[in-house]
Amino acid sequence: MIPMNLVINKRHFSIYESVLKYRKIFITFILAFSLTIFPLGIPASLTQEEGNLLDGIISEGEYEFNITVGGGDYSLFWKNIGEEVYFAIRGNTTGWVSIGIDPEVRMENADMIFGWVNSTGVFTIDAFSIGQTGPHPPDITLEGTDDISDFNGTEASGVTIIEFKRLLNTYDKYDKPIPTNESVTILWAIGSSDSFESPHVKRGDFEFSLAGITGPEDEIADFFSPLILSSALVLSLAGLLIFVDSFGRQHQHKKEYLGGEDE
Ligand code: HEM
Repeated sequence: MIPMNLVINKRHFSIYESVLKYRKIFITFILAFSLTIFPLGIPASLTQEEGNLLDGIISEGEYEFNITVGGGDYSLFWKNIGEEVYFAIRGNTTGWVSIGIDPEVRMENADMIFGWVNSTGVFTIDAFSIGQTGPHPPDITLEGTDDISDFNGTEASGVTIIEFKRLLNTYDKYDKPIPTNESVTILWAIGSSDSFESPHVKRGDFEFSLAGITGPEDEIADFFSPLILSSALVLSLAGLLIFVDSFGRQHQHKKEYLGGEDE
């Protein structure tokens, strides 16, 4: 009679043999699968037509991240593409909307971007706050440069939207670089009039991260972006692949040690 443990060992051995035998096919399959699935994770940002972005309308899925503050009166949307960042500001106002990047004390040294829409068009001003409560002259009057060349906006039903793009680093003395790997404070404000000199009716600040992983609930959903999901999948499959390979090798050695045949 064949001892029970020999039957079990024999069955285990045939699994090892199958793993060894089909190892290469399995690895090829995983690699092919990974290479097929990975491009699906490339964010829409890289394939999206640039021209559609700056139309003054915030379409579903157009921006990767967003934050809403001020009891819903102010939202900032953003998306990083290469060396540029696309922003959309949406404010519950018919006046100006703005962001102020990286202030030092209150408003001082914040790189401000204002935008508004009136009957003659859409306007933005690249400004810089030189004092804690202003003033915030346009960069060009400080001998800097206006680095908001591409923008658009709409005003409807008491809501103003300004979309614009900017280089992460403009190298203008009156612009603050937007860091790619750490957060930065952003001031936000809305005014009730289209006059650049009129004070804000609502204002505040929040921590901003280009990668969007800080902030409230909205960003949490964005964290599970297709890129991250497919990267996680590829990494898991790679891990499985390494495991299967080392498992196969280990048992091949065992088989050789026990005097079995080579593969
Ligand atoms: C014409 C435009 C502006 C004027 C006249 C103005 C004026 C002032 C003044 C007088 C204060 C101090 C009083 C207060 O706390 O309300 C202040 C504070 C503040 N402003 Fe402005 N501001 C202007 C534009 C902006 C813009 C564009 C932003 C954001 C992008 C902004 C963000 C803030 C914030 C966050 C504070 C509070 C700072 C703190 O106390 O820590 N302001 N502003």
